[in-house]
Parts: sequence; C-alpha cells; structure tokens
Amino acid sequence: MRTDTGQIVNLADYRPTDFVLERVDLTFDLHPTETKVEARLIFHRREGIDPKAPLVLDGDELVLSGLLLDQGELPTEQYVATPESLSVRDLPESTPFELTITTVINPEANTQLMGLYRTGGIYCTQCEAEGFRRITYFPDRPDVLAPYTVNIIADKAANPLLLSNGNFLGGAGYGEGKHFAAWFDPHPKPSYLFALVAGDLGVVEDTFTTMSGREVALKIYVEHGNEPRAAYAMDALKRSMKWDEERFGREYDLDIFMIVAVSDFNMGAMENKGLNVFNDKYVLADPETATDADYANIEAIIAHEYFHNWTGNRITCRDWFQLCLKEGLTVYRDHEFSADERSRPVKRIAEVRHLKSEQFPEDSGPLAHPVRPTKYREINNFYTTTVYEKGSEVTRMIATLLGRDLFKTGMDLYFDRHDGQAVTIEDFVKCFEDVSGRDLTQFSLWYHQAGTPLVTASGAYDADGKTFTLSLEQMMPATPGQATKKPMHIPLRMALIAEDGTAIMPASVSGAELTDDVLHLTAQAQTVVFHGIQSRPVLSLNRSFSTPINLQFNQSAADLALIARYETDHFARWQALIDLGLPNLLQAARDARQGNDITCDPAFVDALLAAAADDSLEPAFRAQALALPSEADIGRELGGNNDPDAIHVARRAILKQVAEAGKDIFAALYDSMQTTGPFSPDAASAGRRALRNAALAYLSQLDGNPARAKAAYDAANNMTDLSAALTILAHQFPESAETAAALEHFRDRFAENALVIDKWFAIQAGIPGADALARIQRLMETSQFKRTNPNRMRSLLGTFAFANPTGFGRADGAGYNFLADEILDIDQRNPQLAARILTSMRSWRLLEPVRADHARSALLRIERTAGLSTDVRDIVDRILK
Ligand code: PHE
Ligand code: ZN
Repeated sequence: MRTDTGQIVNLADYRPTDFVLERVDLTFDLHPTETKVEARLIFHRREGIDPKAPLVLDGDELVLSGLLLDQGELPTEQYVATPESLSVRDLPESTPFELTITTVINPEANTQLMGLYRTGGIYCTQCEAEGFRRITYFPDRPDVLAPYTVNIIADKAANPLLLSNGNFLGGAGYGEGKHFAAWFDPHPKPSYLFALVAGDLGVVEDTFTTMSGREVALKIYVEHGNEPRAAYAMDALKRSMKWDEERFGREYDLDIFMIVAVSDFNMGAMENKGLNVFNDKYVLADPETATDADYANIEAIIAHEYFHNWTGNRITCRDWFQLCLKEGLTVYRDHEFSADERSRPVKRIAEVRHLKSEQFPEDSGPLAHPVRPTKYREINNFYTTTVYEKGSEVTRMIATLLGRDLFKTGMDLYFDRHDGQAVTIEDFVKCFEDVSGRDLTQFSLWYHQAGTPLVTASGAYDADGKTFTLSLEQMMPATPGQATKKPMHIPLRMALIAEDGTAIMPASVSGAELTDDVLHLTAQAQTVVFHGIQSRPVLSLNRSFSTPINLQFNQSAADLALIARYETDHFARWQALIDLGLPNLLQAARDARQGNDITCDPAFVDALLAAAADDSLEPAFRAQALALPSEADIGRELGGNNDPDAIHVARRAILKQVAEAGKDIFAALYDSMQTTGPFSPDAASAGRRALRNAALAYLSQLDGNPARAKAAYDAANNMTDLSAALTILAHQFPESAETAAALEHFRDRFAENALVIDKWFAIQAGIPGADALARIQRLMETSQFKRTNPNRMRSLLGTFAFANPTGFGRADGAGYNFLADEILDIDQRNPQLAARILTSMRSWRLLEPVRADHARSALLRIERTAGLSTDVRDIVDRILK
C-alpha cells in the first residue's frame, strides 16, 4: 500500500514528458501469484530535451526482474529501480530505442483492486487513475498515448478466455496446457485505459450495425449461469450506440465491443478501450432480483461507459486535473440519454435530488473543491460528485447558454479539432466560444471557483407602471483555499405566470440579458425590470434547475401552490412542492428539539395531495413529489446544531399528517397503480410501482402495524415491490415478528445471489434508532458478510454511515467510533474504499456540540494513526481542517 508522503501535485507544475512513447508491446504470462509481465516500450527523446536527461518511469510496489535496452543487457550503473520508479540514463540522443522491462506481480495478493487482481477466479485489471504502474514501470499519465499490442499466455483449462483492448489478432496453443492470444488496439491510448481479463466466463452476444454500415460484435461476459440476466444490459448498449450516432454523430471505431462483469470492483464501471469492466451490480438484472432503480442504473452506466469511447478515450485528459473534461461531459451525455429514453422531467428531478443530497454537502463542507481543481494529494479522492455531477451541470449550462443547435456545433468542433489528443478544459470551452462568438471567460469561473452560489431574489409588481421588478443578488461562499470570489455568470431559466395559470410575456426587459427563457445574472447584484405586465405575475425561477445554486426567494405559499399547479415545466412544479414542504419540515425539526407540538401547513398538504391525485401527471412524477426530503437533506437545510433524533421525529410526524389527510387518495392509488401482465422494466411501469409503493409507505405509517406491508411482501412478484415492502417492514416496524420472518425469508430465498444479499444488508443497515449499531455488528458476524467485497462493505457500512443519521449519529458517539475502527481496518486492504466511506463524516461540523465532539474525537483517532494510506490521510486531514 502507498503510504502518505505528504506530496502535493500542482496543476501549475504540468509539463510534457521528456520522452515520447511510440509503441507498447506487452506480454503477460498469467499466474495467480507470480504473473510475469514483459513490457517492450519504444521511446524517442523529444526535440530540444537535454541529452543527459534520464527517462523516469512510474511504479507502485514493483520489483524489477529484467531490463534490456535494444535487446541488450544494461549495466547496473545506468539505471536505478525502486518500488516507485525506474530511472534510466545515457539513452540515445535522438534515435528511437526499445526498453524491455520485466516485472513479476502477485494478482492474488492484490486487495486494493488496482492494477492486475483476481476476482471470482478470473484475472482482471483496473488502471484508472494510477493502477498501470502496479503492473509495470511506465510513464503512467494520461497525456502519454500509444498503440498497444497485448499477448496473453495462460493455463487453457482455467482461462479459456483471454481478452484485452482493441481487435483480436489471433491465438494458439502454447505447450503444456497453456494457450495464448494477441490483441492490437490501433487507437493511441493512455495507460489508464488498458485492460486485461482472463478466465472462464459465460457470454451473451449480439451485433450492432453502425451508421456507416460496419458490423460490430457485442459481447457481455458474465459468470456462467448469469447469461439471461445480461439481456437488459445488452439492450441498453445497443440503444446507447444508436443514440450517440443520432444525437452526437459518434460512431463506434473497433470491430468488437466487450463488457465484463466482475463482483469485486471499487467503482461502478470502467471505460477501458473496447473492453469495459463493470461492477456486476450494473450489468445483471432480471425482474426477480433487480429493482426498477437497478434497471435505470444499468441503462445509465452502460451508456456512460460507452459514451466515454469518444468523450474520454478518443479525446482524453492532458492531466488528472482535467478529470471533469471526460467525466462531467460524459455524465451530461448519459443524463441526456436517459432523459430521451425515459421521462425528461422525472429524470431531471432525480438528478437534482442526487446533486443536492450528495454534491451540495460536499461543496459546502471541508472537502469542497473546484470542478477543475488545481492541486491534489491523492487523485483517487477526486472522483467526486463535484467533478462528476457538478461537472455535468456546468456542461448543461454551456448547452443552455448556446442553445441545443450551437451546442451540437461546438461538440462537433471539439471532436474534429481534438480527436486523438489529451486536452484541457480550456480547449473544450474554446470550441464553444469559437462556434458562438460568446466570451465564456466569466462563465468559466464555474470550473475554478468552488462552492454553491447563493442567489437571493425578490420581486415587486407595480400595477400603475405595469412593471415587475426583480432584484437579484449572488453570493459565493468561502471554501477551503478560496476565501474571496468573483461574481459568476448564472443562467436562470424563468417564467412569469398569471393568476389563471397562463404565461405572461413581457413587452421588454431591462437590466439583464434575456434569451428565450434564460435570464443572465452576471453582476453581483442586478435589478431586472419586466415591462408591459398587465397583472401581478408569479415568478418561476430556475426552471429545470438550469443552474446549480441555492436560491433564496421568499415566495408565498399561494404563489408556490400556483406554480405547482400550472407550470408547464414539471421540474419546476416539483420544486415548488418541495419549497412548500421544506419550511414545515425545518420548523418541525426545531419544534421536536424543543419538545413542542409538530404542525404542518394545510396549504402544503393540499398541494401535495392534489398532485398525488392528479391523473394527468405521470405516476413517476407523483411518486417523486410524495418522497419528502430525507433526514440528511433536512439536516443540510437546517445548517447547524443538528440533532438527528429531532429531525427523525419531525419528519415522521409530518409524514403521518400527510398520511392522515391523504388516506383515501393513498388507498385508491394503492389499488389503481397495480401493474398487470408480465413484468416490464420500462419507465412508465416503474413509475406506477414507485407511486404504489409510496402510497403503501404512507398507509403503513397510518396503520401503525405491519399487516399491510406484510401482505404486500407476500404478494410481490418482482424485486421492486418485494424490497419496497421489506424496507417498510424493517424501517417502520423493526421489532415486529412479521419483519423478522420476512428478513429471514428474503435471506434464504436469495442466499445464492450476492447482489440481492447486498440489498438485505442495506435495508437492515438503514433501520433508524440507537440500536442500529448493535444490529450492524451482529450482521458483520453472519456468514454472508464479506470484508473483501466492496459492494458488501458499501451495503452495510456505507448505508449505515451515509443513510442512517439516527443510528450512525447516536448521541453517545458509538457510531463514529465504530466507523473509525472499521476505516482503519479497511485501509489495510483497500485504501480507496476506506477513504470513500470516510467521506460520510464530511458534515460533522453541522452536528450539535455533543455529537460534533464525539465525531471529532473519532476523526482525530484516525488522524493520529501511523501508516495510513495516502487516500485516508488526505481525507481525514481535510475533514478536520
Ligand atoms: N472512469 C470511471 C467512470 O466514471 C470511473 C472509475 C474511476 C472507475 C476510477 C475505476 C477507477 O466511468
Ligand atoms: Zn465516467
């Protein structure tokens, strides 16, 4: 494991390599504990580089076992090899030369899951960001691109399948029960996109004919027996390929596209050229074992990785500071894909929910960083919701500023101009400036200034002058390393709505640019006047969440209710319902803290129930409206001195009041939203199930007993309904005999399916209350618990720490202490996973003093431990700062 050296990498220090890598030829002789890797690398010295400059290659826990220069032995004075680097001097001044480097690595012992490792009996690699240097010494940075030839030798019986990037060249026997295969990837690529997979897997095959008429072989490799569960992923892949041709004109560029599903994986999936490797959670699905959310995730992640082929692979990042160049853009592309395949407003609601519950807390806490950071200590810790989700929002805003057509033209220019290159955010933005003539200098601050802008708005109608005056002000909060900031370019979509629900068009506007429905806020404060307004308008601001800000706009409940009823933008309707409800939840939390009665404004309940009962609205939308902000969301909005128990009591009380007022509506929905016929994962059917299960949760709340949820559990014929019923049983009636029986039944029925058992763990990890910790500890003793499997760890520990505020945050600090012990333990094996779970403590300063104190002690205990990985050291230092 790489322990911390305290070294910081700075964007300002970027310079190209001294040597140009021309070609890579790798030979792997696979063995579970002693894999021999021979890397033949052809370099030449870049023009103008000092002939004395040595070639310095990266390594990580490597041992050099052979080194040749142009096939000849090298005198030992000519090189220095350590586990972290190989430095060779006296290399040819201007002619190309070939280095042959031999290393021996141990895949079996690789518990970090970076580099070459074993999972479920197969060999698999993960190289992003800096895993390739765990395989061989290499210029392991994204701006070093070369074509790769890969030869794989392995035992034939155990590894009938030998895969790598690019196109298959050929294979043959290789003596003594071994065989070999050769692959060639003609597209120059950085090492982080390298992949190798070997083993014995089942396959699902299909083909795709590209827009120019080429036939591409599609293969999804899964554990034997799981083939039928890969059908949905294959379907999603073909739809993704088609969509990228139609929407962005992007055609696939190899003869074959492969996906391999593995059960031990640190992240969701990886876009290795022509050979994507996936966490099997994002490939495998059938109605019996996967929820609607699982299907939606599979579709989105298959698309995401496929889209990387152009945004990430053909055009890659110059350095890791540019990570959002590929991730923000590719998330935007997968969001657009899902919006086109499903319901656009419902997709947008889900995105914004995710952004607010994950990215906003990051951006307002100790881990805040710009979308394009300027320094890092451990790059693994920068695969964040800021880089991904906020990066996507920034891309979306470029599309909003330019309009759909010009945005497409800008993307075309980007693909043309930079194909085959490793580029920067500046290069990307320049393409949109060039096609639009718009100066995006101020807009680019979105990449460079961290923190969520706070926009304050107030409006006044002048009946005599027939004007509506809108005062806008923006405030950029301070974030680590950035005390003061400049005003941003904030594109606010808006609408003016009359009392009868019709749109009001102003005769003219002064004080700000307004293009279509986009109002441009560019100064710190701006007064915008809308002229020719015949009656008092209701302003709908930040429609479709056109900009990722916190908006302070004290609209009356009546105005919000009007938006909730009439806005043509359904996202804005949902937002209005949330804005109506939130003050009630916040007040309830304060009242619960003081021991006061909890009340709820009937205007909110009425508006919510009106939406729930409105058959003209999509069921999925109505389900989103009924899902009140989570306890964590409420905590974030309260903004300090938070007591998780009070928040829990408050939220439950409000849910109950909604349930009481809406019991007839919920009963009717529960009956009418029943889906009939064979299961279909399509968005409309999923929406019906979501609404029905939301109704069930409210009704159970009111019943105060588990009978209805138990009946639903027994009647369920798909995983969506089954897990929804089990969640209601466990979270609302944890002590009931029905819950115990259902949990046992669920475990036994799905004992053979790891992904379903993950759900079993996660549901129990989320049960609120102070006894959650004891439950977690009991679950860790069960035979199903597996410390080495990241999915299992995330299901149990991740859910506990991220999504169980009362259990994890119990007042005596035992939850935080427990997590600290676990983090220290996980760090020994898998630093990336440890660091990721530790980020659950990023908002500790929002807690009331007693809990905050416990949290700090637990963090300090981690900080004072010697031998931490760079990953955990980096996070704990920043969280405590
Ligand atoms: N690049 C992957 C994606 O977003 C994520 C990833 C990062 C996977 C690092 C593994 C390691 O598609
Ligand atoms: Zn990605």
